[in-house]
Amino acid sequence: MKSIYSHILAVTLATMLLSGLLSFLISNVYYQVFLKDYNDDKVTAMARDISDFYRQNPELDKDNYLAHAGELGYQIFLVDKQGQKSFYGGKFSKKKIDQDIVNAVFTGKIYHGIRDFPSKTFITGFFDSSVINTIGMPIIAEGKQYAMFVRPDVGYQFGEMRIFFAVVLTFSVVISIILVMISTRYIVRPISKLTEATKQIALGNYQYELDVKRRDEIGQLADHFNSMAKSIEQLEEMRQEFVSNVSHEIQSPLASIQGFSQTLREKELPDETKKRYLSIIEEESRRLSQLSKQLLMLASLDKEESIIEKVTFNLSSQIKQVMFMTEWSWREKELAFDLDLPETYIYGDEKLLQQVWINLITNSIKFTESGGTISVAIKNSERECKIIIKDTGIGISSDSLPNIFNRFYKEDKARNRKEGSSGLGLAIVKKIVEIHGGIIEVKSEQGVGTTFIVTIPKL
Ligand SMILES: Nc1ncnc2c1ncn2[C@@H]1O[C@H](COP(=O)(O)OP(=O)(O)O)[C@@H](O)[C@H]1O
Ligand SMILES: [Mg+2]
Repeated sequence: MKSIYSHILAVTLATMLLSGLLSFLISNVYYQVFLKDYNDDKVTAMARDISDFYRQNPELDKDNYLAHAGELGYQIFLVDKQGQKSFYGGKFSKKKIDQDIVNAVFTGKIYHGIRDFPSKTFITGFFDSSVINTIGMPIIAEGKQYAMFVRPDVGYQFGEMRIFFAVVLTFSVVISIILVMISTRYIVRPISKLTEATKQIALGNYQYELDVKRRDEIGQLADHFNSMAKSIEQLEEMRQEFVSNVSHEIQSPLASIQGFSQTLREKELPDETKKRYLSIIEEESRRLSQLSKQLLMLASLDKEESIIEKVTFNLSSQIKQVMFMTEWSWREKELAFDLDLPETYIYGDEKLLQQVWINLITNSIKFTESGGTISVAIKNSERECKIIIKDTGIGISSDSLPNIFNRFYKEDKARNRKEGSSGLGLAIVKKIVEIHGGIIEVKSEQGVGTTFIVTIPKL
């Protein structure tokens, strides 16, 4: 595997190499454009000094003086009309020069070899110690005419400086590499920690603490990772709780079906008892089927919101219809129904909303003692529609109130068992209302009654 570590190192080295190359090219261009003329002028002035000096002191010993100048850091090439050559000071790398140039200097022309040195991309004329890279000037020494070519001996003049810069460059490269290696570890370490944490989570170890205390993007990533791990853990807990609730809800009706059918098979029972047992079996199977329907509904509501098919329909007549559907159970309990249903049309999923009213109204019927009253009202405003379902039933304790919309929550387990409930009804109601962009609120007082208010936006 190619690690980020080696990756960053390689990129850094490549960057250093490239920037070195580019700087060289740029400084080369800078020399060609700005420094060359300046350098040429400087050396020309120097050459003129030598030539003037000879003119003022014609009896001067030529060799002695030029050798002296050479020792001070110059390269000098002298040639007379007969072609006799002599060199002073530092050695030239290339000694060739056109005879035409030499002849031109003899006629009194100054040769600007430094200024006219050909510019090439990778060659810095500054360091080239060829005879052609000089200033040529005629001088008269010891009564004889010479052509003198002179240039500063860069190697000599900058010798120590060159070593100094080479040392600076080498150290800065080596130290940068070492620092990059160290700092890259610092950058990469939290990423390795994150990788380890991801592995641990995949193995189901949600408690794994990722301690990355940084304020940058990696720190943020670690923070997000931690909160993600937490929600995965919660989700996992919820899933386990859900599964155990479901199995429990399935287990109890199955156990009673098994028990009663076994008794029916093994014992001689009076017809009356047989009928009672069989109706219990029938009732329990109905509960199971109801449970599986509710679970399927929750699953499909959880899955996607696209399953809803919205139409505009008459809400008041839908609620009246639910009343008729449940008529048998509320008549049996002798409950009064108080309706205030002005004609209202809303835009929503007809089937799902019907489920909402069925669940809320059957709850009210279930949790209200005989003689009580259930009232259903619709209150319209421009933007929304409120459906208020109120009963004079047993109410809900303030402890339970925050939990009633949770899946499988039942306030009184013993009572609900008899009533055949799953605790999924209100969870389904809440989900459907939320899918429609609405909210559901509940107010309740024990022994007084309960009010559910569903608010659904009209558009
Ligand atoms: N109208 C009501 N009056 C009193 N308690 C209620 C009412 N509606 C719901 N509850 C409480 O909320 C719980 C959850 O309701 P629900 O989700 O419909 O489940 P279920 O009806 O299957 O018990 C009920 O068990 C009950 O304790
Ligand atoms: Mg219910």
